[in-house]
Amino acid sequence: MSGSDKITTDLGMPGTATVPAGVPPLTEQTRREAREIITRYPQPRSALLPMLHLVQSVQGYVSPDGISLCAEELGLTKAEVGAVATFYTQYRRRPAGEYHVGVCTNTLCAVLGGDEIFRQLKDHLGVGHNETTEDGTISLEHLECNAACDYAPVVMVNWEFYDDQTPASARDLVDKLRSGQPVAPTRGPDRQCTFKEMSRVLAGFPDDLATQGVQAGPATLAGLQLAQQRGETAPAYPDEEKS
Ligand code: FES
Repeated sequence: MSGSDKITTDLGMPGTATVPAGVPPLTEQTRREAREIITRYPQPRSALLPMLHLVQSVQGYVSPDGISLCAEELGLTKAEVGAVATFYTQYRRRPAGEYHVGVCTNTLCAVLGGDEIFRQLKDHLGVGHNETTEDGTISLEHLECNAACDYAPVVMVNWEFYDDQTPASARDLVDKLRSGQPVAPTRGPDRQCTFKEMSRVLAGFPDDLATQGVQAGPATLAGLQLAQQRGETAPAYPDEEKS
């Protein structure tokens, strides 16, 4: 094995990795779609991030086979692809649940109840950070700021917002997801997509749900509306010649 092949994480070692039971294989269609993604960029390697999402849309995580496919198509080493896949937290090293639940435990959410929500979900689901329930429906992660502090404490499911949560509402949310009851984010589309569906959107294959629902809610717009009432505007950018 060459030095460039030494990937020593859960992404596995080429030729020795085993795909977990129930994980579908990558197919020729996956490879065709990977090549379609590559054509969208002036430099092929710029396609790596959406290609990794494409792998997740099929297998639910970035598998060793997914690393190999990306490396082959982009002319990169497996180590280079693995370095990217292990840097960004959106890429899973083990199969994500059908619904990936992220609880913000950054400062504002934490003091308003995020820490307690995360603690109670761990107990309720019987899993810890970055673990998946045995039935494969829910994976749990504590997240740093979701950029939704005005609705703290915030929980995300596959990157969709659930605002102003409490321990009880978060438990109810995961119970509904596990039992297959319909659930809709507080803002965004009128149904909760699965992790694989969301990964496909992030790979650049839209589901046409992006424009559904409220995008910026009243709390987000409050400062803007106050400024408009007062006639305040943002300072102009300095003139380029003077800067
Ligand atoms: S601190 Fe939780 S969304 Fe910003």
